[in-house]
Amino acid sequence: MHLKFSEMYVDSNIKKAVEQVLESGRYIKGDNLRQFEREFADFCDAKYAVGVSSGTSAILLSLMALGIKKGDEVILPSHTFIATASPVKFLGATPVYVDIDPVTYTIDPEKIESKITENTKAIIPVHLYGHPANMDPITELAEKNAIMVIEDSCQAHAAEYRGKKTGSMGDMAVFSFFPSKNMTVAGDGGIITTTNKELAEKVSMLRDHGRKGKYIHEMLGLNLRLSEIPAAIGREQLKHLNDWTVRRRNAAEKYNKLLEGVVETPTEAEWAKHVYHLYVIQIEDRDGLGRYLNEQGISTGIHYPVPVHRQPCMEAGEICLPVTDACVDRILSLPMHPQLTDEQIGYVAEKIQEWVK
Ligand SMILES: Cc1ncc(COP(=O)(O)O)c(C=O)c1O
Repeated sequence: MHLKFSEMYVDSNIKKAVEQVLESGRYIKGDNLRQFEREFADFCDAKYAVGVSSGTSAILLSLMALGIKKGDEVILPSHTFIATASPVKFLGATPVYVDIDPVTYTIDPEKIESKITENTKAIIPVHLYGHPANMDPITELAEKNAIMVIEDSCQAHAAEYRGKKTGSMGDMAVFSFFPSKNMTVAGDGGIITTTNKELAEKVSMLRDHGRKGKYIHEMLGLNLRLSEIPAAIGREQLKHLNDWTVRRRNAAEKYNKLLEGVVETPTEAEWAKHVYHLYVIQIEDRDGLGRYLNEQGISTGIHYPVPVHRQPCMEAGEICLPVTDACVDRILSLPMHPQLTDEQIGYVAEKIQEWVK
């Protein structure tokens, strides 16, 4: 058996949508983008959505719209993909790392307050692996200290926190459509959601050379737009997202049943709807198990082996994040996608049990 780690869904409707764009001759800033933005905003219960070229662009543009600059500090977890933090540093601001909660792998709200200074301008909670961050205490702290919140929802399309969709809670939220994500656009792509009209207009201009019309550039911008082909694919993929979420949750439940007591399985907080972008277990000899599974034809991943504060490019120095440091050597991501069959899940679990014995 050869088991892929993740798999993109393609059907005849997606192919037809691509063909229609090719035949239309309209490749940027067309109806597909406008409609995808409307549909995605509605899906997240957000007022506005702005399509951009990647999740990384979405974070950069959100920070730019909030005016983040040199001297500012942005609070975020270190246990995340580098792109949560790199745009902060790119703008000359300082990422301030906070440890995670050991159960949800998301930023620990209790450890945020001591890191707030007069320079703190934003907090980026990451809904890691598809599990929402504990948003209420974060929002409360942000409001009390006049700090903006950007949800990093790049791994959490359709996840919910106390019944609220990710993408609807922060001042802004960012999503990625990278090929392995819960929905994709057959390449790179991203989107920003917000309920703030002014911020929506700002990111919309910043992604398109800082203009509203054609020839007048009111602010310095970049070209970080989402093109028509990915927008058309995104529209088709969005139609499946609820169904895929059910499938991912069912797959996780099956893994949980088979792996309970064998390895540490993921937990869903009582206030969370986890969408299992990744199914991450913990085990002492993670590398040994990973090698064994790969020999059995099972692809695995590690998200992430080196925390952001230890990445050379971040030049962060020695920072004490014991929960983050303790989990990075133990985590292993198992195959997870909506097309996984019971037989495949059974095979993975059997091979893990075999190795553990
Ligand atoms: C948590 C997180 N933030 C940001 C990103 C960046 O998204 P992209 O790869 O689309 O630039 C990703 C995706 O890889 C991610 O997982």
